[in-house]
Amino acid sequence: MQKIIPDTNNEIKIRFATSKDITEVIAINYKTLPEHYSNSFFMELLLDSPETFIVAEIDNKIIGYIMCRVEYGFSILRKMSLARKGHVVSFAVLEEYRLKGIGKRIVEQAIEGMKVKKCNEAYLEVRTDNQAAIRLYENFGFSKIATLNAYYKDGKNAFLMSTRLNKDD
Ligand SMILES: CC(C)(COP(=O)(O)OP(=O)(O)OC[C@H]1O[C@@H](n2cnc3c(N)ncnc32)[C@H](O)[C@@H]1OP(=O)(O)O)[C@@H](O)C(=O)NCCC(=O)NCCS
Repeated sequence: MQKIIPDTNNEIKIRFATSKDITEVIAINYKTLPEHYSNSFFMELLLDSPETFIVAEIDNKIIGYIMCRVEYGFSILRKMSLARKGHVVSFAVLEEYRLKGIGKRIVEQAIEGMKVKKCNEAYLEVRTDNQAAIRLYENFGFSKIATLNAYYKDGKNAFLMSTRLNKDD
């Protein structure tokens, strides 16, 4: 069973999401990101992979989340190989709580969850001008693998970023 990384900050709790959190998570998604999803998609990912659906909470209020999907298919890092991949689908921290290390703690916990789910690698798409997120991901060992032209509905480009989760892979 996955361990929750010990809470070194008494106020902010990093924990697994539950179905009761989904409404607040969706509200944060609408406030912080242009990419939105149906309520059932959030529930589906929570049911499929609760180990990688993480929230940050303060005073019973959700202030950040990450939602990931565990996928099996072609490896992003090794040509012609198959891999179990942890895909970061959506990740945000409310603006007033940023730059306090919360995003970092959320990603750390999601990566633990991906390892529990036996993922060999993690990957994500990020807007090429999103320096904050790119730097955060690079700190976790993600590197830019490709530029995905016109990936977003507004025509903007994404970087495909990926990292190995197991040294031996
Ligand atoms: C990306 C996001 C989740 C980061 O959350 P956060 O709680 O502010 O991040 P942290 O405080 O844990 O920062 C961790 C690291 O990320 C990098 N970082 C975060 N914000 C940054 C910024 N504004 N500028 C540069 N680097 C930044 C830094 O390397 C930082 O580490 P350091 O403080 O040791 O230098 C937050 O900015 C956000 O919600 N943005 C809008 C939604 C979004 O872009 N999501 C990602 C979609 S792919």
